[in-house]
Amino acid sequence: MLKVLRKPIITGLALALLLPAGINSAAAETSSDQSSSALSVPSIAERYKKSFSIGAAVEPYQLEGTNAAVLKRHYNSIVAENVMKPINIQPEEGKFNFTEADKLVKFAKENGMDLRGHTLIWHSQVPEWFFLDEEGNPMVNETDLQQREKNKKLLLKRLETHIKTVVKRYKNDIKSWDVVNEVIDDSPQNDRGLRESAWYKITGDEYIKVAFETDRRYAAKDAKLYINDYNTEVEPKRTNLYNLVKDLLDQGVPIDGVGHQAHIQIGWPSIADIEQSINMFAGLGLDNQITELDVSLYGWPPRPAYPTYDAIPDSEFERQAVRYNQLFELYERLGDKISNVTFWGIADNHTWLNDRAEQYNNGVGVDAPFVFDTEYNVKPAYHAIMD
Ligand code: GLA
Repeated sequence: MLKVLRKPIITGLALALLLPAGINSAAAETSSDQSSSALSVPSIAERYKKSFSIGAAVEPYQLEGTNAAVLKRHYNSIVAENVMKPINIQPEEGKFNFTEADKLVKFAKENGMDLRGHTLIWHSQVPEWFFLDEEGNPMVNETDLQQREKNKKLLLKRLETHIKTVVKRYKNDIKSWDVVNEVIDDSPQNDRGLRESAWYKITGDEYIKVAFETDRRYAAKDAKLYINDYNTEVEPKRTNLYNLVKDLLDQGVPIDGVGHQAHIQIGWPSIADIEQSINMFAGLGLDNQITELDVSLYGWPPRPAYPTYDAIPDSEFERQAVRYNQLFELYERLGDKISNVTFWGIADNHTWLNDRAEQYNNGVGVDAPFVFDTEYNVKPAYHAIMD
């Protein structure tokens, strides 16, 4: 049985350190040619166009060659895997770097695709300077009440400047923003289940409100603002997220939807839990987007305690196809409550899940979470979602 475990919070950061943007394990990835079957089979985006758009997370180097061809054929939405995160966009205070993000904007425009904005505020892949006071001291350690008040103002000002600058630049290009990412904790330290990140330690829950309000002020009128998280199907996280969102909506905070990352596994979570989660948030009048879908073959982390494969048996691809079939059947049935389904990658040759195998398991346990294989051929999962 696949063991249910959570993503560790260091994942993104560790990834950023291991794999600076643009040079992700590209060298290790296989290339392909026109014989890849993904290039000749019917389009996934076309198949689901009545229900929701179909997205893929990409790095700028993937905007050419076979990757680009597969993107154009099967996806009508893209999102930056890394290059729009705070550490990439504003590595030093006031020094914005849009070069890589602009490449995605250009590609999306040229190909008539939507572009999701991911992510404005997160506890991971965020540069340290955000949280240092004017003397360079970590603001989280401050005990003096007056100074704490000053620090809070300073951090909220920095947050506003960051959001305003990014959102204004991409006002005409981005219609869905992940405004805050992963603000709920899996193992709550406080009553409301809020993650005790530096953002929280310095501003309480205010950073969440100010983030949404600032985004709303500068985004396009028709842009939709999302609160994005993983394990949104899992208690107590789901209820804590629900209560937070309800509370914020009651206060008039402009949230339009919930982003369900959906870094899931073949056997977990249950379809019933996924359905309930989408219905709960839809019940608040909110949109849902599936923002980072991948269906791992393993539990978390992929240590020897869990089954891992050097060569994945065909039976696993069949089990994965059954899972994909159930998922997309559900998504389609709830199509009026879901506006986008984004895979956290294009094909099995590039997935953050393999970096975790490197990190935790000496590279053993190569994963294969998507519907296209490492050579861009269709897998059983592709056929399962196209029925
Ligand atoms: C989170 C983030 C993504 C990505 C993944 C994998 O889900 O939202 O941007 O970093 O972790 O690391």
